[in-house]
Amino acid sequence: MNARKFKPYNFITGFCMGIFGFYVTHTLFPHFFHANESAESTWHLKSIETDLPPGKEGAMIKYGYILITETAKQIGPLANDENMRFAGNNLNCNNCHLSAGRKIGSGSFVGVYNRFPQQRWRENKIGTLAERINGCMERSMNGKTMDEDSEEIQAMIAYMKWLSQDVPQEMEKLYKGFMPVDIPDFKADTTIGKLVYQQHCVVCHQSDGQGVVVPGEEFSGYVYPPIAGPDSYNNGAGMNRVLTAAQFIKWNMPFGVSYENPILTDEQAYHVAAYINTFDRPEKVNLQEDFPDKTRKPVSTPYGPWTDNFSADQHKFGPFPPIIEYYETEYGIAKNK
Ligand code: HEC
Ligand code: HEC
Repeated sequence: MNARKFKPYNFITGFCMGIFGFYVTHTLFPHFFHANESAESTWHLKSIETDLPPGKEGAMIKYGYILITETAKQIGPLANDENMRFAGNNLNCNNCHLSAGRKIGSGSFVGVYNRFPQQRWRENKIGTLAERINGCMERSMNGKTMDEDSEEIQAMIAYMKWLSQDVPQEMEKLYKGFMPVDIPDFKADTTIGKLVYQQHCVVCHQSDGQGVVVPGEEFSGYVYPPIAGPDSYNNGAGMNRVLTAAQFIKWNMPFGVSYENPILTDEQAYHVAAYINTFDRPEKVNLQEDFPDKTRKPVSTPYGPWTDNFSADQHKFGPFPPIIEYYETEYGIAKNK
């Protein structure tokens, strides 16, 4: 009778031994426990601090990283060598491709190398990654294209390739592009957008949208980048489309939020995206030549010509669902932005 009495210390000892046994077995034979887990559990996001390969390859990747994080200084208006000034504004690539292209939901470079070359409707041809980078140079950076064989383009590609190596499919999907927002069936309201801006954006980007410069006698870049004015992206940039900007803003702004903890609702992101797109910014020439096949233009492309009878105002501020529906029924083209 006595022997069967419940003894708490025996129970605790047994419990601890059990845990210990599991721990040891688990450590020695992990595959027994994780036989079905995919490469996802072992994959990790590469870091420039700890994961660079040695030698020339590592040096090239590092240079790509520097170009992406110090764009203005390396290949923009702040470059010492005049011949190296390709970007026309003082943004850096990583102002939009956050964490040097390593953040989910901000057009990450993780996996991007594996998706090129690809069909590009803006030019209606199969485009390379070098050409895609130059697309951002001409529009987001309001500058000039660089020679595709230049060390700079090749270094940025090396960096993107390195980030894209051995990425499990599920991760590649998660990192790809911007995250979606629901597209409201009403027009974006810039008055509401302005209120959202005053509450959530103005402290950093300022009321004129021109951001905050690094303190000092001479201009040396921004603490908070401009989203308007001469140092901003031009009107041909993806960020100048309300739906694209709403997606970026919802999952990345105010600075510090991520896809796991957004602050704005989809509607707030939509209204504030419309509001910032009323700000003045540089104008790109020859925009009428974009999308040689006009049926392929994203619905919120704010500049014409279009192959539909929706007004310029509707292409700029919505409502977008009727335009999306039109292309679906008329051309069988499914658009999501
Ligand atoms: C003002 C914001 C902004 C800046 C600055 C910017 N980009 Fe982009 N970039 C975008 C947007 C928006 C897209 C996606 C456009 C779309 O969805 O059509 C994009 C797309 C890309 C893509 C394709 C991504 C993919 O998943 O297919 C690459 C590569 C790229 N950018 C490289 C660069 C590089 C390199 C720089 C700096 C030289 C740069 N970008 C600067 C906004 C920016
Ligand atoms: C706490 C400061 C802060 C707040 C608040 C903030 N931003 Fe930003 N924003 C940044 C920083 C910093 C970046 C650049 C990110 C980087 O380099 O890592 C940025 C980048 C951007 C960009 C792309 C880069 C560019 O300059 O074009 C846009 C667009 C943008 N923010 C819009 C907004 C909007 C809209 C809001 C309000 C909903 C907002 N931001 C709130 C700090 C802020």
